[in-house]
Amino acid sequence: MGRVEGKTAIVTGAGSGIGRASAELLAREGAGVVVTDINEQAAAETAAAIEAAGAKAFAMPQDVTSEAGWPEVFAAARDRFGGPHILVNNAGVGGLGAPQDPEHGTLENFRRINNVNLEGVFLGCKHAIPALRAAGGGAIVNISSLAAMLATPAIAAYGAGKAGVRQYTKSVAMHCAQQGDEIRCNSIHPGVIETAMTEPMFAARAEGDADAGRQRYREMIPTGKLGRPEDIANAVLFLASDESRYITGAELVIDGGLSII
Ligand SMILES: NC(=O)c1ccc[n+]([C@@H]2O[C@H](COP(=O)([O-])OP(=O)(O)OC[C@H]3O[C@@H](n4cnc5c(N)ncnc54)[C@H](O)[C@@H]3O)[C@@H](O)[C@H]2O)c1
Repeated sequence: MGRVEGKTAIVTGAGSGIGRASAELLAREGAGVVVTDINEQAAAETAAAIEAAGAKAFAMPQDVTSEAGWPEVFAAARDRFGGPHILVNNAGVGGLGAPQDPEHGTLENFRRINNVNLEGVFLGCKHAIPALRAAGGGAIVNISSLAAMLATPAIAAYGAGKAGVRQYTKSVAMHCAQQGDEIRCNSIHPGVIETAMTEPMFAARAEGDADAGRQRYREMIPTGKLGRPEDIANAVLFLASDESRYITGAELVIDGGLSII
């Protein structure tokens, strides 16, 4: 019996990186998974890989910033697999490539980043609450960042939005508890994980040499390792499953010790 057997999960931004690893693991542990991404082809590839492994998934194109699309995703999940019981608000953008520091960052870029990273999470939670309630309860897992907790001047717009996600998660958790819903909401705070999002960051660290940049990050991290998408997926699975039934409004840092220096 899988750890989320019989549950239905929606994972946003699941065409790549952390979202893809989370969707695959949830499916391997028995959930029917709705794989959404703004990149339709990437979502289809994740769903196909899950099905090829003998688990249950289907892909849907979704831009998390579009409110109109959210009810369709919940309805499709319900019709196909029942529930839904789990929402992983994972879709995000790094906004790298344009200045974000407090002096040079533009309002346009600040809004563009947080339209996805913060407003997307707001919309996901808003539409998840009635849907999860109707299914008898469930779990929302918000992928924030270590950047929510530290000064991050070079990625200030990103850090501000992720801090918003950290705080908003607690309000959602409290609201659901006050309503008497069996809906939990927690946030995960990854450090430096090797995905498409961090590739330009590694390159920027060492004059375009991503491998040298990777090594510089390893040297900053107490355990000497970069994170893998699976490291975050394992935590997603735990917070999505009934194993974490008494955990809500919590924040889980997964960073190889980067924040304890
Ligand atoms: N990689 C890291 O080191 C790291 C660290 C902390 C937090 N995070 C967070 O983890 C999450 C996943 O990032 P990742 O590293 O796997 O990056 P990634 O770039 O590999 O994946 C992000 C996915 O989100 C999708 N996406 C982007 N905008 C979207 C939108 N408007 N609607 C729907 N989908 C959209 C992309 O198409 C992509 O498939 C993000 O929220 C990111 O901020 C990552």
